[in-house]
Amino acid sequence: MSAHGTPIPMISAACGPLKGEAHVPGDKSISHRSLILGAMCVGETRISGLLEGEDVLDTAKAMRAFGAEVEDLGGGNWRVYGVGVGGFAEPENVIDCGNSGTGVRLIMGAMASSPITATFTGDASLNGRPMARVTDPLALFGAQSHGRTGGRLPMTIVGAADPMPVRYVVPMPSAQVKSAVLLAGLNAPGQTVVIEKEATRDHTERMLAGFGATITTEVTDEGRVITLTGRPELNAQEIIVPRDPSSAAFPVCAALIVPGSDVLVPNIGLNPTRAGLFTTLQEMGADLTFENPREEGGEPVADLRARFSPDLHGIEVPPERAASMIDEYPVLSVIAAFAKGDTVMRGVKELRVKESDRIDAMATGLRAGGITVEDGADWWIVRGAGHGNVAGGMEAVSHLDHRIAMSFMIMGMASNAPVSVDDGAPIATSFPVFEPLMAALGAEIRRS
Ligand code: S3P
Repeated sequence: MSAHGTPIPMISAACGPLKGEAHVPGDKSISHRSLILGAMCVGETRISGLLEGEDVLDTAKAMRAFGAEVEDLGGGNWRVYGVGVGGFAEPENVIDCGNSGTGVRLIMGAMASSPITATFTGDASLNGRPMARVTDPLALFGAQSHGRTGGRLPMTIVGAADPMPVRYVVPMPSAQVKSAVLLAGLNAPGQTVVIEKEATRDHTERMLAGFGATITTEVTDEGRVITLTGRPELNAQEIIVPRDPSSAAFPVCAALIVPGSDVLVPNIGLNPTRAGLFTTLQEMGADLTFENPREEGGEPVADLRARFSPDLHGIEVPPERAASMIDEYPVLSVIAAFAKGDTVMRGVKELRVKESDRIDAMATGLRAGGITVEDGADWWIVRGAGHGNVAGGMEAVSHLDHRIAMSFMIMGMASNAPVSVDDGAPIATSFPVFEPLMAALGAEIRRS
């Protein structure tokens, strides 16, 4: 079944050169945070370039349920009139976060230090994902959680009436957990300290500083020590959301494997905590260039140009790079299939608890398409067949996971036989214009 009803089977076949400009949607991580932080300050925040995918629209609905005014002004422009730190109202109904782990975990954090109760649910994928990673630190603030066995949604959070500031070492590399703790720390007195051993995406820290919070990051032997002073007055902002590097990954990777391609993907956010895929692709021999590097809205951006790269080769991806490309491993595994030699990916056990078990979902589909893949708990190796030698011809299962569906559609563009997925509906969670955007470049993706 799809996330929101009828499954949409899709098929992708070999196509001529991909050419043109790909204007991918706004960054998903920054879009969620814009709405949530906009709701937590007093006054009017204006957002342009918001991702209008299902995940972010669910967060917009949730912010309304907590009392903020959230208005779609059209053309990716939004207005949020916030209620201030500690000003959330108790929602009258269950909060449905759909497919979005980021949405539910950040919102749980944002409400957990206020004396209100909220119940959260999601689709079958989200309701199977672990929430204890967030409710454990939220309990330290004084919040209670009552969920299903194994800390799964649906789950009720009873916010702390008298929250305590917290010092928390995040046990896994997770920006969602870090962000949930920081957002809860906003309404706790004193200083909340979050320590992460590996750097994960830092949009929450950057944006909190932009909204006027006192927040510092110190790199120590213990890791990155992030200190937030609670109960700030956040100031409403004008936010320009950069385009999503995780969405850019799809047209970029397609261009690398389709002969004769030359695709420009303008205005892509290149925050170093997000850009690991592009470094990896260059190490594999990709013809990828960054044009017009500049800064916009506090984030580094550039225009990416990707051209067909017939001589890709496998590499060992450094495990310390994993957090900066965690959402890009599915499409990297497709590129690895078209490369010569082995691509070795280690230190990636987080992939097993994303919208799907992404190692299993990709390995199963790639094997059915003629590629040898080995995997263990926190590693996988794709044995590349080389350009022109990828059989394809299978139907892969997307498991309610947008990135799995899109990755197999990219594979079909250069395989010897078309590649199908059972359900492309989840693509709408993060990249609602994927099909027309890829078609405009010359791809042959059809609903089957
Ligand atoms: C995200 C963090 C990552 C990432 C997700 C978005 C965020 O998840 O996979 O797509 O916006 O904070 P984890 O925190 O689980 O690594």
